[in-house]
Amino acid sequence: MTTSEPVFFNPLEEGYLDDPWPHLAEIREKDPVHHLLTGQWGLFRYDDTFRLLRDPSLSVDDDNVDMDALERPLRFEDVDPDDQNRSILNIDPPDHTRLRRLVSKAFTPRTIEALRPMIERMVDEMLDQMEADGNADVVERLAFPLPFDVISEMLGMPDADKDLIRDWSGAIVKTIDPIVSEAEVAAAIEADEKMRRHLADVIEWKTANPGDDLLTRLIEAEDDGDTMTAKELRGQVSLLFIAGHETTVNLIGTGIRELLRHPDQLEIIRKHGMPATGVDELLRWVSPVQITRRVATADIEFRGTVIPRGAFVLASIASSNRDHAFWGSTADILDLSRENAGQHVSFGSGIHYCLGASLAKLEAEVAIESFVKRFGQVDVVGEPKWNGRINLRGLDELIVRTR
Ligand code: HEM
Repeated sequence: MTTSEPVFFNPLEEGYLDDPWPHLAEIREKDPVHHLLTGQWGLFRYDDTFRLLRDPSLSVDDDNVDMDALERPLRFEDVDPDDQNRSILNIDPPDHTRLRRLVSKAFTPRTIEALRPMIERMVDEMLDQMEADGNADVVERLAFPLPFDVISEMLGMPDADKDLIRDWSGAIVKTIDPIVSEAEVAAAIEADEKMRRHLADVIEWKTANPGDDLLTRLIEAEDDGDTMTAKELRGQVSLLFIAGHETTVNLIGTGIRELLRHPDQLEIIRKHGMPATGVDELLRWVSPVQITRRVATADIEFRGTVIPRGAFVLASIASSNRDHAFWGSTADILDLSRENAGQHVSFGSGIHYCLGASLAKLEAEVAIESFVKRFGQVDVVGEPKWNGRINLRGLDELIVRTR
């Protein structure tokens, strides 16, 4: 390809899921303010992503999108607007400020640190099981159940069929990919209906069985009338539950795989424990959420290109986390001791900065360090299986033999 040939962001390209980095680097270099063939705009440079996420003039509300500019509508037209989830992730101030304040009380660094003994206990039990199994799937035994059990425990969820919920949740989050097929949309609508019914039952059950948990506190806030409506309550519970496990699973699963591919870094953890910057570097390296988005409420310029009002703008977190212009010549090296690793944009930035960041980091630190220290020798068996998602990219299966 010559430099004058146009480039197109195409995550459906063969091999992209396994290794998206060369494709992202090419777009970042040749057309960092990119108009996708599907109608959205994409930003691929660190500075642009940072500016986009922190600019208060942009919106996260799909109602502001000029739908005619898109290949495919963003909303599922068959779903009653009353049933569509409205979480803080897609609500602008002032409602965002009010709702985030209510939810964030459960996520202060001190509240999260208090969960450490419980997380350590859960991880130890999971590793005991892996040790007993010999050959074990890291995703099934550790990366998935840990964040799922922790958020279920925090919310005070009743026991439920984990596999079923994992399937629904997987179908739902597939639709935040930049390109989705008709069949995937249909599967997501069906899964969303089931998840909504399940969560409505859970909220009803919890109302009758209150406890010392996050869900009870959120329900009490709903009872307060003007603090949170029933619909807002459903939206926040759904977001916390899904965001609580669909992202951290990728940090732990892909993070462990990357360490197995970088034995020098793995040895650092085995000998000295996780470096203070280690989890941040894994977040930079893996980008468990690869893309986030904003809506332009007025024309906005990036590097001389005007993105029009109403545009749906994607920020490539993954590309920004490997941008040489920001990270320097070592951008493509995994270095757990990188001093400024914490400047990654894996948790976003600005008012929507990930509420679960401290929790995700704590879970990953305990899970990965304990895993590495427990087993003197770990060999990957066969080929890892990817989950098929462009945005919440991660592994569905990583079988290892441990000794
Ligand atoms: C490695 C794990 C995680 C990653 C990479 C991640 C990433 C993100 C990103 C990129 C955003 C959106 C930022 C934006 O658009 O500006 C976000 C928002 C959010 N995340 Fe996370 N997240 C993770 C874990 C969690 C966990 C464990 C929870 C909850 C238990 C959580 C709850 C939330 C919530 C509630 C928001 C919305 C915040 C708002 O809109 O004000 N996340 N996260």
